[in-house]
Amino acid sequence: MDTQVAANISTDDGLPFYLPQGNEVALFEHAYRHRLPMLIKGPTGCGKTRFVHYMAARLGRPVYTVACHDDLTAADLVGRHLIGDGGTFWSDGPLTRAVREGAICYLDEVVEARKDTTVVLHPLTDDRRILPIERTGETLQAPPEFMLVVSYNPGYQNLLKGMKPSTRQRFVAASFDFPAPEAEQAVIQGETGIDSKDAGLLVRLAGALRALKDHDLEEAASTRLLVYAATLMQGGFDVRAACRAALVEPLSDDEDTITALMEVVDASLPR
Ligand SMILES: Nc1ncnc2c1ncn2[C@@H]1O[C@H](COP(=O)(O)OP(=O)(O)O)[C@@H](O)[C@H]1O
Ligand SMILES: [Mg+2]
Repeated sequence: MDTQVAANISTDDGLPFYLPQGNEVALFEHAYRHRLPMLIKGPTGCGKTRFVHYMAARLGRPVYTVACHDDLTAADLVGRHLIGDGGTFWSDGPLTRAVREGAICYLDEVVEARKDTTVVLHPLTDDRRILPIERTGETLQAPPEFMLVVSYNPGYQNLLKGMKPSTRQRFVAASFDFPAPEAEQAVIQGETGIDSKDAGLLVRLAGALRALKDHDLEEAASTRLLVYAATLMQGGFDVRAACRAALVEPLSDDEDTITALMEVVDASLPR
């Protein structure tokens, strides 16, 4: 399972680089202080994960990230008995570990998880803030520092198919989108050190590509992909080839669509 504790640290203050879009930093801090779980919606690659890692670092809490998928079981979150040299022993899952340590548990793409998996979240999201562990008979009381954060992309899924409305209503929620052009340019420059001319070019190109979004593509050119393109360009890769590799090929397998997207790229490049 995809569990991680560290975030990439890239700024002077030791925090991951994150450029705020609105009031999300204050909102997260309030939610944390008032022991409320938080739900973040937004398209793939718009900064949700980076934001959570940034906030965790700011608040000085470790973060356990779980990439949810439809085979994820409650045991994957809570823990299971394993067999070792000395017999069986209990092994905490990432949710349990986060509760014990007073960490942030971040469930990415939570709607991918089945309902019977997300049920374990219910008693943690109301004011009891407990985690009953059936297999061991233990019931953990979450410390004030524990926070549950979930995210999903509303674009291509049934809205919260895996969560009951009654659970959903216990979350403080924020909608993310790709940063506004100036902010997105700053993000690309901050992430890669590319100059403002090239970063500006990529942002304009993204605007043109995103305008096509509803035609053939399930997903839009994301901020993440712009950062990839800038990384390739920064490494000396030809602009057009970088855009093809980072902004066009990842978005479609359909040849006609790829050709159409490359036409948009060519129209945006200075000649
Ligand atoms: N506001 C932001 N500040 C800094 N980097 C950002 C921001 N938004 C997007 N990024 C960049 O985009 C990449 C993808 O963001 P990520 O958080 O992984 O997206 P998501 O989790 O929404 O799919 C990050 O690795 C980072 O390079
Ligand atoms: Mg993510």
